[in-house]
Amino acid sequence: MAKLGWIDVTEVSFNAFLLFEPIHAEYIATREPDSHMGTAIKANTAVDWYLRHIYPPIGDYLDRCLALAKSDASAEEIREAEINVLDRVHDWLVYVLDPEKYDRQDFNGWDNASLLGMADFKHKVVIDIGSGTGRLAFSVAPIANTVYAIEPVANLRRFIWEKRNELKLDNVFPLDGTITQIPLPDDFADIVMSGHVFGDDPPAEVAEMTRVTRDGGMILLHPGTNNNSESEAHQYLVEQGFEFANFEEPGDGMKRKYWKTVHKINPSKLGDCLMLKQNGYEFVEETKYPNINESAQQQDKPQPPYQIPLEPNHPVIDLPNRKRLTWVLMICVKPSRKDVPYVATAMRASLSMSYPICSG
Ligand SMILES: C[S@@+](CC[C@H](N)C(=O)[O-])C[C@H]1O[C@@H](n2cnc3c(N)ncnc32)[C@H](O)[C@@H]1O
Repeated sequence: MAKLGWIDVTEVSFNAFLLFEPIHAEYIATREPDSHMGTAIKANTAVDWYLRHIYPPIGDYLDRCLALAKSDASAEEIREAEINVLDRVHDWLVYVLDPEKYDRQDFNGWDNASLLGMADFKHKVVIDIGSGTGRLAFSVAPIANTVYAIEPVANLRRFIWEKRNELKLDNVFPLDGTITQIPLPDDFADIVMSGHVFGDDPPAEVAEMTRVTRDGGMILLHPGTNNNSESEAHQYLVEQGFEFANFEEPGDGMKRKYWKTVHKINPSKLGDCLMLKQNGYEFVEETKYPNINESAQQQDKPQPPYQIPLEPNHPVIDLPNRKRLTWVLMICVKPSRKDVPYVATAMRASLSMSYPICSG
């Protein structure tokens, strides 16, 4: 990662780790254990204790770092190790120590019209995920009905509360949460947006954003990836039916923004299976509905041919390709009801959740 230069980490105490959140510990635990971390943690037992308590799974990582710690490290060597570690969490230090510094960065000076042109925010219920200092949230708040600023760092939520009061935008509500754990009900928002957060786990993130977006609502990523990126995140978004364009972040170049209108399946309507198509699912072919009653009678368990009946005597969509099925969706035919064959459960594999199309 390029040096950010937002703060001088040589002046930061290693105790700043005591201001970190469980999500930071979770990220740290995914890194390769290293001797600098081991040396720093060995000399800072309170930090070691704290991290193990806010995120117990980090214990294994810390033990492996400690095994690599320099023995008999001098005070200078310890400080050198601390600075090395602090430098790698530069952005998090700014969030927990001085969010104003992040808010003032040139790249935050992008043109509001770029975001406002992506959707009609007027009177809308909006969720901003990974809100930070509220760059996206405060851009749309003057027009929107309400904006829920989801942010896992307490100090940033505090910053947003203060800024909301300063700007007299009392329709902005900071909430603790993450892009894979949004503390709001299904179909809650008209618009779900996020900037500079998407990408660690694209399927889980798109699934959770989709969950809280109402049918016909929109998901916006501003930005979602760096310009011209052919990353997995970009590929995934395109596969999921997101469109994209560029915009400029001053001093940081062109970035990619993404948008998609969400179409949801209404469980009460078999005909809404057609909505799957609009949700980016690939269908192999459409065929006439054959003799599913007979096959259902003979089977105890859901069996191929994995068909989606739209309604009795209506053509159905046939999904013979199992490999593609596991990626796209898994249809189970429930055998117990013989008069009207129907789909009991569809696994939206990309969303990792089961979704009833019809029950009865
Ligand atoms: C680079 S900042 C972007 C802030 C703001 N969206 C913007 O564009 O200026 C990333 C923000 O996402 C938050 N964050 C980190 N991991 C997150 C996650 N898994 N879910 C939601 N937010 C996260 C960070 O605390 C930070 O506030």
